[in-house]
Amino acid sequence: MTSSERAYVLGTDQEELLRLGTQHRLWAESALRLWERAAIRPGERVLDVGCGPGFASRDLAALVGPAGAVVGVDESARFVAHFTREAASQHLDHVRALEGDVHHLPDLLRGHAPFDAAYIRWVLCFTRDTERVIRGIASALRPGGRIIIQDYFNYQGSTCLAPRAPVFDRTIEAVSRSWRDSGGDTDVMGRVPGWLLGAGFRIDHWGALQRCARPTDTMWTWPTIFWKSFLPRLVESGHLSAADKAEFDAHWARASADPAAWIALPTVFEVIATKAE
Ligand SMILES: C[S@@+](CC[C@H](N)C(=O)[O-])C[C@H]1O[C@@H](n2cnc3c(N)ncnc32)[C@H](O)[C@@H]1O
Repeated sequence: MTSSERAYVLGTDQEELLRLGTQHRLWAESALRLWERAAIRPGERVLDVGCGPGFASRDLAALVGPAGAVVGVDESARFVAHFTREAASQHLDHVRALEGDVHHLPDLLRGHAPFDAAYIRWVLCFTRDTERVIRGIASALRPGGRIIIQDYFNYQGSTCLAPRAPVFDRTIEAVSRSWRDSGGDTDVMGRVPGWLLGAGFRIDHWGALQRCARPTDTMWTWPTIFWKSFLPRLVESGHLSAADKAEFDAHWARASADPAAWIALPTVFEVIATKAE
């Protein structure tokens, strides 16, 4: 296990890898809609920043086709190895992953041709110096290149179970605090427009996706698999007591069987911005 594997708050084990695959399926439609809005097209070179095991990268590869290229960057050696194996097994010769910290994009991408677009989803909420990451992406793009971001703001306020339950609210507070304690920010999208403008981007699109789910909905799976993989880590890190986790698990099991329950999922904010010509 590398040091980045140990440090990354959500972990990089097999359970998290599978969770990222399910998560991508559940959110693939909104990603595709955003890529279409940003006019990703055949022949383009796209950078997938914090690509994880490459679920979004492989969809992007289908959009840019063999005349284009997708380069993913992630600090997890395990995710990069999975990415590389999958790309090879699908004969995606125009797709590759680089292992490294997204705070060091100019070094990692030295020798690479400029990119037409960069996609970064659910990564900036984990980075310690997000302004630096955005500046690094700006330097990797050609003039007129687009940055496409999906991430959180007001995570704690927007994630609610109905009817309300104090243990749910305590758990969401613990999630948010644990990300902050490891250098992240569940409010990161609040500051992204300022950083984009400061890095010379023009903001073309700003929007929000507010999803909710009832227990019988496919989308109920998203929070369910997140609690399963992440709450044990929260107990391990001391952000959540074992008693609260047990109470939370029992409450979630009851809510999952309650046709009157529903959940407001964390709002995902999205932006498309263009680097000055
Ligand atoms: C929640 S996952 C999202 C993965 C992918 N972007 C997606 O939407 O499916 C966050 C990813 O960011 C990566 N990551 C977090 N901080 C990083 C850093 N400083 N440098 C490189 N990768 C990082 C993690 O390894 C993980 O794969």
